[in-house]
Amino acid sequence: MELPSLLLCILLEFLAVNCLDPAEERIVGGYAPVPHSIKYIVSIQTTDRQHICGGSLINKYWVVTAAHCNIGVDKMMVVAGDYSLSIYEGTEQEILPHHLVPYPEYNPITNNNDIMLIKLRAPIYLNSYVSIALLPRQDASMAEGRMCRVSGWGYTSSSGGQIPSTLRTVKLPIVSTEKCNSTGSFNGTITENMLCAGYSTGGKDACKGDSGGPLVCEGRLYGVVSWGKGCAEALFPGVYTAVSKYRRWIDNTIFSYYGRCNND
Ligand code: ARG
Repeated sequence: MELPSLLLCILLEFLAVNCLDPAEERIVGGYAPVPHSIKYIVSIQTTDRQHICGGSLINKYWVVTAAHCNIGVDKMMVVAGDYSLSIYEGTEQEILPHHLVPYPEYNPITNNNDIMLIKLRAPIYLNSYVSIALLPRQDASMAEGRMCRVSGWGYTSSSGGQIPSTLRTVKLPIVSTEKCNSTGSFNGTITENMLCAGYSTGGKDACKGDSGGPLVCEGRLYGVVSWGKGCAEALFPGVYTAVSKYRRWIDNTIFSYYGRCNND
């Protein structure tokens, strides 16, 4: 190791930041992606920089996240181009929200319709660290067994007390709604607006703090991290908002705002 980087390492260690990144698991059962290779993910934070939820950039003014991530427009900040939440890399873009549009029929008891759009005050600049996620067509379905990727800064286990500083990601297969709804699993609580993904043996999953974040299948944003039972338990896959059910609502909402606000 060269002397300057060694000194930086010691300095970072002094600052209680992980320098050599031990092989600890974040997201549950996942790994660290190549930094800035997942460019559509954003961290939704409080204005004093506490990570709350994930989100996905769908164009330079709009983010898709979960309705249960609604902490109020005045308390929220969106960070794009991030990788380590604790180290400033110079690639981050922090933008305040202009308006929050939770799905009007979001039900916090059943978790049905757990989706929200965030209109940003200023556009995010798309560059080599930041890009958009493509949306699926209205009602497009994803067959059982198709592999998807979920990413986030969430807990690394149900019991695992803290938000990791660097992004994690894991690949998971889609589980059919029938299987997900069976007795011994979610027992009829999965609606047609939800999508399940995970292994029947558990071990890999999204967890607390990953909410609102992207589940990407075949290059499109099919799911938003919504809920689950604990994290990575056998027979309990993660439950995602099925974005394809909301494609028309997303398009209409964005269109109505552009109509009113004259943004590019
Ligand atoms: N609701 C959680 C959050 O607010 C995410 C739940 C996802 N859980 C799971 N086991 N996939 O961050």
